[in-house]
Amino acid sequence: MSFDYINALLKKPTTRTPIWVMRQAGRYLPEYRATRQQAGDFMSLCKNPELACEVTMQPMDRFDLDAAILFSDILTIPDAMGLGLYFSEGEGPKFKRPLKTLADIEAIPSEVNNDLAYVFDAVSTIKTALGDRAPLIGFSGSPWTLATYMIEGGSSKTFAKTKAMLFNDPKMLHLLLDKLADSVIAYLDQQVLSGADSLMVFDTWGGVLSKANYLDFSLSYMQKIVNGVKAKHPNTPITLFSKNGGKHLNEIAGTGCDGVGIDWTVELGDVERQIGSQVAIQGNLDPAVMYATPEIIRAEVKKVLSQFKGDTGHIFNLGHGITPDVDPENMKVLVDAVHEFSAK
Ligand code: CP3
Repeated sequence: MSFDYINALLKKPTTRTPIWVMRQAGRYLPEYRATRQQAGDFMSLCKNPELACEVTMQPMDRFDLDAAILFSDILTIPDAMGLGLYFSEGEGPKFKRPLKTLADIEAIPSEVNNDLAYVFDAVSTIKTALGDRAPLIGFSGSPWTLATYMIEGGSSKTFAKTKAMLFNDPKMLHLLLDKLADSVIAYLDQQVLSGADSLMVFDTWGGVLSKANYLDFSLSYMQKIVNGVKAKHPNTPITLFSKNGGKHLNEIAGTGCDGVGIDWTVELGDVERQIGSQVAIQGNLDPAVMYATPEIIRAEVKKVLSQFKGDTGHIFNLGHGITPDVDPENMKVLVDAVHEFSAK
């Protein structure tokens, strides 16, 4: 099978610019909210392969998307490590047992695939449902981003505890990040063996670090993951996405990844000039454009597409996830506009 999404990642010719959207299966879709209610809560939905498959396919059935993404969460690994993940309504993710001491970190296993069989079952179930309609993206969080949730005990604005550890006891943080990198490599390896066609690493909080600390505490562990996964699956494309990582593009592209995800705070044309000869680029419409009228959405899509000069190597996406209060009709406007304006 030849897919525009995979071809664009490998910088091979495409029929048009492929598009998928972060959080394409999510609360903006009424059918997602219905299935989540049927499952009981978000984690029960993730842990049920049939229902996870159902919600993965919902946006595929509604829109002409070029890739499906596994329905799961980046916090499955910390959950399998025994931290007790739960989601409290309106407050995001929380851990019952956040990491506090060196003993807590030493006690963590560095491979938890046995407790993540539900994820691999979801991958193979989705793969069967997709057939050759579209490729399937598997994913994980970056070690740094996972560590922030595990140390803070949930979402944070200041990352006070994680940064205190970074400065007071960097060796302790490195021990955690190294264990997380090993678990992520095993996790992504098993996703590929279960049917994932490409992989993405979400480094949502890489952008809150200084340059030196970004390289040391975030990128070096993504480098380890690229090396580890490529050693086993040299032909599976990997995309790295550090939100607010616009100042580190050369270093990210230098890891040997295939794609670099960018947010909307950088100009796609500038990014292409900087790293476009090395890697494919994914992005980068401001997610807030989805609140505008169909005419404005189409005009903004045209602007993004016109910045990218190459024939291939661009995967359209929002610069971050689609938000729950977007009108699903606007998603159709977005997807169709990308295809219409980029058709060759
Ligand atoms: O993109 C997709 O459609 C695939 C599924 C996916 C989810 N989370 C489903 C989800 C993916 C790839 C993720 C990744 C993820 N999870 C990230 C990295 C990407 C990013 O958004 O920066 C992060 C940081 C998380 C952790 C997480 N999970 C948070 C902070 C939240 C709450 C956010 C919110 O919007 O409330 C979640 C929950 C979550 N993960 C939801 C979905 C659809 C909403 C849960 C619900 O149905 O109530």
